[in-house]
Amino acid sequence: MGTILIRHLNNKARLRAGMMGIDQLTAIEQAPLRILGIETSCDETAAAVVLRDTAGQGQILSNVIRSQVDEHRPYGGVVPELAARAHVVHLDRIIAEALAQAGTRLEDLDGIAATAGPGLIGGVLVGLTTAKALAAATGKPLIAVNHLEAHALTARLTDGIEFPYLLLLVSGGHSQFVLVRGVGDYQRWGSTIDDALGEAFDKVAKLLGLGYPGGPEVERLAAKGDASRFDLPRPLLNQDRLDFSFSGLKTAVRLAAEKVAPVTDQDAADICAAFQQAVTDIVEVRAGAALQRLASETEGLLRLVVAGGVAANKAIGAALKRAADAAGAELIVPPPTLCTDNGAMVAWAGAERLALGQVDGFDAVAKPRWPLDEAGMRIGGAA
Ligand code: KG4
Ligand code: ZN
Repeated sequence: MGTILIRHLNNKARLRAGMMGIDQLTAIEQAPLRILGIETSCDETAAAVVLRDTAGQGQILSNVIRSQVDEHRPYGGVVPELAARAHVVHLDRIIAEALAQAGTRLEDLDGIAATAGPGLIGGVLVGLTTAKALAAATGKPLIAVNHLEAHALTARLTDGIEFPYLLLLVSGGHSQFVLVRGVGDYQRWGSTIDDALGEAFDKVAKLLGLGYPGGPEVERLAAKGDASRFDLPRPLLNQDRLDFSFSGLKTAVRLAAEKVAPVTDQDAADICAAFQQAVTDIVEVRAGAALQRLASETEGLLRLVVAGGVAANKAIGAALKRAADAAGAELIVPPPTLCTDNGAMVAWAGAERLALGQVDGFDAVAKPRWPLDEAGMRIGGAA
C-alpha cells in the first residue's frame, strides 16, 4: 500500500523538495525502500541498489564500481576533464549492471539518488543529470545527495549504529571531524586548512617518484623505513583546535628529499616512514581531543566512525584504535570498499532522506563545494 502511494505521488508534489503530505510521508516510513545510488563526483564511476527495510536496516543488493585510476595514472592525479568524459562513457553500463545484479528493474525502484556535490563539477553533472533523466522517465522521486553526507551515514548501513557519533572523514579531498547528530544534522568540528590527508600522501608519493595513487605506495615503503631518521613537523598540533594542516609537512618532506638527493630506495623508505609517523601522531592526538569533546557534549556511547580512502592505512587505523581505547570509545571502520567512494553509500543516504520525506526537484543543482555544516565556520580546505 505504502509503495503504491509513493508510486502515485504526483509530479508537482515530488518537485516541491521536502514538501510531501503527511499521508505520503507515512506511506514512505512504512514501506521498504529500494533505492538506486549514483556516484560520479571524483574518479570512481559507481552505481548501487540498496534496500532499507521498515525497521531502518540496510541491505546492499548490488554495488558496482569502475575506478578510473588507469586513466589518471599517467598524470599522477585526477584530471577533471578526463574524469567527466569517462563517467559519460561508462555510467549507463554501470547502472545497468547494478540493476541487473540486484535483480531490480527501474520500475521496482522507490527512488533515484545521485551525488550532487561536493566534487569535480563535470563528473557531478554527469551523475546528477543521469539521475534526473531516470527520475523523469520513471516518475520516481529524485534525491540529490551530499557526497559527504553519504560518507557520514555509511556506518548506519554497515553497522546499523544510532545517532549521535563522531565521524573522521579522511580521503583525497577531505579531512574533517563531524558530529553526526541525525540525517541532515551535522556539526563540523574541524577541517584541513590546506591539503587533505590523502592528498598529502599523494603529493609525498609524487615528489618521491612513487606510483599513483600514492597512499598505498607510501604505506608500503614506510614499512621498510626508519621513522626517526628525519625530524618532520606536526603542524598545528600545539594549538587547541581540531583542524588539520598538512602542507607544511609536505614542504618539509620536499626539503628532506632535496637534502639527501639523489634519493636512494632507503632514503625514500625513511622519508615515507617519517611522514607516516608524523601524520599518524597528528591524527591520534586530534582524535583523542575530538573524543574528549564528544564525551563532554553527548551522553551514553562514544563512537568514532572513520571513512575515506586513508582509513585503509594500517598505521593510522592503529592510532585511531589507541585514541578510541584511551577514550573508552568504540571505533567503527566500514569495509574498505565502503570507506572509499561507492554507489551504495549514495543509495543509502538517499534512502535515509526519502524515509524522512526529503526529496529534490529537477532544479537541484550540482555543487562543486557543499559543506555538510552550512552554518559552520568556513575554515577553508576542501568543502
Ligand atoms: O576516499 P577515496 O578513495 O577517494 C576520494 O578522495 O574521495 O580516497 C583516496 C585517497 C587517496 O589520496 C589515496 O592516496 C588515499 O586515499 N589512500 C591512502 C591509502 N589508501 C588510499 N592513504 C594512506 N594509506 C593508504 N593505505
Ligand atoms: Zn569521497
